[in-house]
Amino acid sequence: MRTVLVTGAAGFIGSNFVRLALEERPDWRLVVLDALTYAGNLENLEGVQEAYPERYRFLRGDVTDAVQVQALFQEEGVSGVFHFAAESHVDRSILGPMAFVRTNVLGTATLLEAARSAWKGQGGRFLQVSTDEVYGALGETGLFTEGTPLDPSSPYSASKAASDHLALAYHRTYGMEVVVTRCCNNYGPYQFPEKLIPFMVTRALEGKPCPVYGRGENVRDWIHVDDHNRGVILAFEKGAPGEVYNLGARCERKNLELVRALLRELSRLKGWDEGGIGERIAFVKDRPGHDWRYAIDPSKSERELGFRPRVPFEEGLRSTVAWYLEHEGWWRRILSGEYREFVKRQYGEA
Ligand code: NAD
Ligand code: DAU
Repeated sequence: MRTVLVTGAAGFIGSNFVRLALEERPDWRLVVLDALTYAGNLENLEGVQEAYPERYRFLRGDVTDAVQVQALFQEEGVSGVFHFAAESHVDRSILGPMAFVRTNVLGTATLLEAARSAWKGQGGRFLQVSTDEVYGALGETGLFTEGTPLDPSSPYSASKAASDHLALAYHRTYGMEVVVTRCCNNYGPYQFPEKLIPFMVTRALEGKPCPVYGRGENVRDWIHVDDHNRGVILAFEKGAPGEVYNLGARCERKNLELVRALLRELSRLKGWDEGGIGERIAFVKDRPGHDWRYAIDPSKSERELGFRPRVPFEEGLRSTVAWYLEHEGWWRRILSGEYREFVKRQYGEA
């Protein structure tokens, strides 16, 4: 049995990862560390402890807490790390960058140090979960490859770029087995309703306007969270140390086109008049430093890892919209206190 540490496991991607990994890797034991910030939610992991009592342990803790992190490596005999924990929302990083520097930079450094001291150059592997946002913005054409220079725009992406550099430096300097994945925009169940898709779905269900930044012409590249996580597992198992692997499903959409598609799906499921979709959308002030377009070239992962996304976007979007309808209690419990404060600061209304 191999013990792996999963950080940020109570968040969107981490919680989906925990379920997938426990199901598909029966010889792994997962020790899970999460600070339960506003984005961490134990409901995302409901039923996991009961289903896998021997192979799952949840610990509340902060990745910047060197004492706790180091003790965990020693006590649990951790031989692999999946580092998901991060402050992840671009707009929040614009409102307040310091939490991003703390968790994303200092937190990654703290984990790398604990791994270095526990593994002493061998016996472990560190998977740094990163993002295509570190590459900056594309114009109308071109794709991000692993060789694209890093040119981050927001405090979020700059902090992720710094943590990628640190992780890769631990490979070059100390010979640590570090692998970095960079993925495009994820969607799926348990995504915190500040991100585009769940934000728009929950806003529409609340009867509030859906705020589209600028003219809605920015392009994002979408992948289902399970496909991302399958890529992360492949990179951990098959990736070469010191290498970066881009993960994406070749699925570019303009924001406005996507918002319209999800409102159409919602209208179908709720029996709303599709003619009213335009009135549900409000064009609002653009995000400062808003990256124009993201598009991932995943050829290296396809070639070297055998990475093949399985979920077609239209099908994944339908099932995701349906999930939010079926889990109204989950998101309504989030739409309180802190969340309302954020929405007020970001959009000028609660
Ligand atoms: P999320 O915001 O939904 O979850 C983050 C989790 O990390 C939460 O459970 C939170 O409690 C935890 N956390 C935050 N600070 C912590 C700290 N100091 N110590 C311990 N735990 C802490 O984020 P997500 O969307 O699931 O993203 C997970 C990872 O994937 C991040 O590293 C992000 O950069 C990366 N990523 C996200 C996307 C995307 O589209 N969401 C795409 C590519 C890469
Ligand atoms: O590309 C990967 C990244 O995708 C991840 O690293 C980040 O953690 C994740 O948050 C996401 O970043 P984006 O900034 O692309 O995602 P977000 O959901 O915030 O916005 C998607 C697009 O929608 C972006 O162009 C901004 C726009 N948008 C977003 C919100 C929340 C709006 O027009 N209106 C909104 O209210």
